[in-house]
Amino acid sequence: MKQVVSVVNLKGGVGKTTTAVNLAACWAEQGKKVLLVDLDPQGSASICVGIMSKGRRLLDAMQKIIALPVVPTGVTGLDLVPSGPELAAARQIFVDGPGDEIFASCLRQTTGDWDCVIIDCPPSLDVLTMSSLLASQHVIVPVEASFLGLNGVRQMRAAVESAKSRNAELDIRAIIPCRAQPRRRIHWEIMDRLNEMFPGKVSPIIHENVSLAEAPGRGTPVIISARISRGSDDYRLVSLWLAEHVGLEEKQVIEFSHDELTHPMEEVSSL
Ligand SMILES: Nc1ncnc2c1ncn2[C@@H]1O[C@H](COP(=O)(O)OP(=O)(O)O)[C@@H](O)[C@H]1O
Ligand SMILES: [Mg+2]
Repeated sequence: MKQVVSVVNLKGGVGKTTTAVNLAACWAEQGKKVLLVDLDPQGSASICVGIMSKGRRLLDAMQKIIALPVVPTGVTGLDLVPSGPELAAARQIFVDGPGDEIFASCLRQTTGDWDCVIIDCPPSLDVLTMSSLLASQHVIVPVEASFLGLNGVRQMRAAVESAKSRNAELDIRAIIPCRAQPRRRIHWEIMDRLNEMFPGKVSPIIHENVSLAEAPGRGTPVIISARISRGSDDYRLVSLWLAEHVGLEEKQVIEFSHDELTHPMEEVSSL
């Protein structure tokens, strides 16, 4: 089964969309096939890969409980489910009953040879974010190094714990310190607190970097708009670190060693 990753934080402006888009692009650069799902009616992830959408087809798919609309992007190996303002109606339509399970059903019907799905969530714990949590095995939480940011992570942890009662596979795999400014003392204070709260789960940092602020305006991930930049280096490093934490690398290693072991043994026994 493909790996499904929700990028979530109840706070806005912390780097969720930047992280979803650039992780997706880095994994695609490393040869994986990736589906990026924009589940925020602001449509920011779509804009970051140069695609404008009204969100109508995504809303339609959820109303009819059919496969999600997928479009290719200009990045090899990266496809997108685009979103836009019309998806906001989902907040009224699906709020009652088991409406938050519909998205998972649509995703199951969406066929493709993706190794992983990355879902960019809106900055609230609404029916769209809950839909994403119910469809995922992995949660990653981008965090800004501030005390209010720390509070947001606590709320996020509580929200994931409650979603686990309906989706036992779900867990927070990584906290990604974003927009980091390590010259500030508060950065290190917050890093200490994060490491205490989530031992082994805090990723390498993403620095505050102009290449990342400029990339959305160019409609491409940073590894394309500024191939050699601190923003690209940081997201490449975090993407490698995270691939291990969500089991993307593990899957390949297991398959490889299985082939390596069985074929020679079969040859030996047939002699
Ligand atoms: N590491 C960074 N360095 C500089 N600007 C950043 C960085 N991460 C995000 N930004 C900018 O900050 C703003 C908010 O980021 P975004 O990823 O959209 O946050 P969210 O999805 O959590 O609301 C955007 O304009 C984005 O380009
Ligand atoms: Mg966003």
